[in-house]
Amino acid sequence: MATDTLNVGVALGGVAPEHEVSVISALQAAAALDRDRYTPIPLYIAKDGTWYTGAPLLNVDRYADLDALLDEALQVALRPTPHGHVELIEHREVGAWGRLTRPPRRIPIDVMLLGLHGGAGEDGGLQGLCETFNVPYTSTGVFGSALGMDKVMSKRVCEQAGIPVVEFVAFREEEWAYNEEEGLDRCEEEIGYPLVVKPARCGSSIGIARADTRDELDAAIEDAFRYDSKVIVERAVEEMREINCSVLGDAHEATPSVLEEPKPSDDDEVLTFQDKYMREEDGGGAKGGGAKSADAAPEGMASLDRIVPAPLSDERTDAIQDVAVRLFHLFECAGVVRIDFMIDEETDQLYFNEINTIPGSFSFYLWEPSGVSFDELVHRLVQIARRRHREHNGRVQTYDVNLLSEKSLQGLKTGGGDG
Ligand SMILES: Nc1ncnc2c1ncn2[C@@H]1O[C@H](COP(=O)(O)OP(=O)(O)O)[C@@H](O)[C@H]1O
Ligand SMILES: [Mg+2]
Repeated sequence: MATDTLNVGVALGGVAPEHEVSVISALQAAAALDRDRYTPIPLYIAKDGTWYTGAPLLNVDRYADLDALLDEALQVALRPTPHGHVELIEHREVGAWGRLTRPPRRIPIDVMLLGLHGGAGEDGGLQGLCETFNVPYTSTGVFGSALGMDKVMSKRVCEQAGIPVVEFVAFREEEWAYNEEEGLDRCEEEIGYPLVVKPARCGSSIGIARADTRDELDAAIEDAFRYDSKVIVERAVEEMREINCSVLGDAHEATPSVLEEPKPSDDDEVLTFQDKYMREEDGGGAKGGGAKSADAAPEGMASLDRIVPAPLSDERTDAIQDVAVRLFHLFECAGVVRIDFMIDEETDQLYFNEINTIPGSFSFYLWEPSGVSFDELVHRLVQIARRRHREHNGRVQTYDVNLLSEKSLQGLKTGGGDG
């Protein structure tokens, strides 16, 4: 690897249902990294939670035979070093004599490109690890990631900011378990059918169901609790258009992309996991997929049928982009996000639906028609990550005074030791 490039740790996989989708997104981004500036170092989080690195992990075709791939890969752990760097350190069992036969391999990482969807990769968990290890990373921080992952809290924050959301009711599992009938009454009285039930912190339409009767509602809520300990029940918008907008930037400046209107297959009301990721190439519909990904990986989110730019008036487009940028700042985002809206066609009302702080395919298919190539997008992500890291490290974080020095401790009873 060239020595004057930055080592970009590309995190992919993850312990989440969107594991494979993440592999595609992250490898698309790795392929878009300018090799004169960056050297991608894959960090694959297997479904069992173990971590690997190694060049073969950058090749999407190799994922067809995972056992063979992991045999060739190097199992690693992340290790902090002073001054905002981390390294991947080879993780090996000790030999027969209780010692390693050679020192473990180490690979320095300058910045982490987080390409995980759902679970701890997107909900602030991995972001927290990067913060703790003080390495720059390309996503929204711990707070915004956790907030964005939570459909209940997201909507509460929007309500507080005056951004419309559909009527909803939320339950914690503990509340629900003891007051099922009351809970069902609340949904019926405060909203009424048809309803949509969702686990609060999942994605990819997992655990989402529509309910038209009390029995269906009861079953849908029970089912949603299999995925999460918190469930949201919303009014189903029957005549609905979905409109999404990506936003790129940080607290200093944020730019909205063109809008997209995704299209579910057939007449399904809900975009399913299959719609999003497992669609056969049928040659129909407007595709947003770009050239860059084609040689790197299957298209992932980019293969979904969609209209880009969404057919809306200029005024409407501007207004939605403005709300998207407001939301980006409200959620304290950084890097690239995708904000999903719904328009209720009966009333023409726009609603915030959800924010994806690590959007499928990094939303590159919305940036290309906005004049930002995929290469430029990932370059900007790395720059934003490094700037945030510099700013963070420029703030006071520790004091040089040792409060545990002998002088400071004089007279303090610790209750332990020789006191
Ligand atoms: N309140 C609603 N009314 C009608 N359809 C909805 C509603 N909420 C979600 N949907 C449909 O379900 C899909 C998935 O819901 P969403 O909230 O985006 O969850 P996910 O995080 O799983 O993508 C949406 O893309 C939309 O098609
Ligand atoms: Mg969604």
